[in-house]
Amino acid sequence: MEQENAKKQIESMIMMSTMIWPCSPHSWRIFRISLPSQGVELEEQRQKKALEGNKLFILDYHDAFMPYLRKINGLKTSKAYATRTILFLKNDGTLTPLAIELSVPHPGGDTFGAVSRVVLPAKEGAEGTIWLLAKAYVVVNDSCYHQLMSHWLNTHAAMEPFIIATYRHLSVLHPIHKLLEPHYRDTMNINGLAR
Ligand SMILES: [Fe+2]
Repeated sequence: MEQENAKKQIESMIMMSTMIWPCSPHSWRIFRISLPSQGVELEEQRQKKALEGNKLFILDYHDAFMPYLRKINGLKTSKAYATRTILFLKNDGTLTPLAIELSVPHPGGDTFGAVSRVVLPAKEGAEGTIWLLAKAYVVVNDSCYHQLMSHWLNTHAAMEPFIIATYRHLSVLHPIHKLLEPHYRDTMNINGLAR
């Protein structure tokens, strides 16, 4: 199931250019800041080898969600984290998640940065449930990012000024108008309903 989840992430990357990319030593360093505080020691040599072999990927929603978390978590019915997931590319070509970082803003204020914890894969007991929940929070970030940012903002909302400008300033007989119109079909209705 985890491999399947990871595979879907990669597939959606190709289609939607989501937030997954090879893990650079820099982003790995950022990620590792959370690790020692939890007594998690990943083997130094294995990490180095995986990084050098371009086998580590990061699915990074940290910066995209952090600015909104105070507002979201201030609601009585909602709870969200900003997530970073490290994925390992196995020899059989499948990806498997190695660790998930869950972050919330520091209660003392933004100058203190984030409060982060890293969750590692587990199959049983409380740890197994926490791992499942962590993956659920990643999926929440992924679907919200896709729906609200990649899809709504970067396609629907970004097209709106062009649609308005075309209808306001180009005659319906204008060749550019004729060329563009089929691409605008239903966009304004959908945008209206989405609001
Ligand atoms: Fe759409």
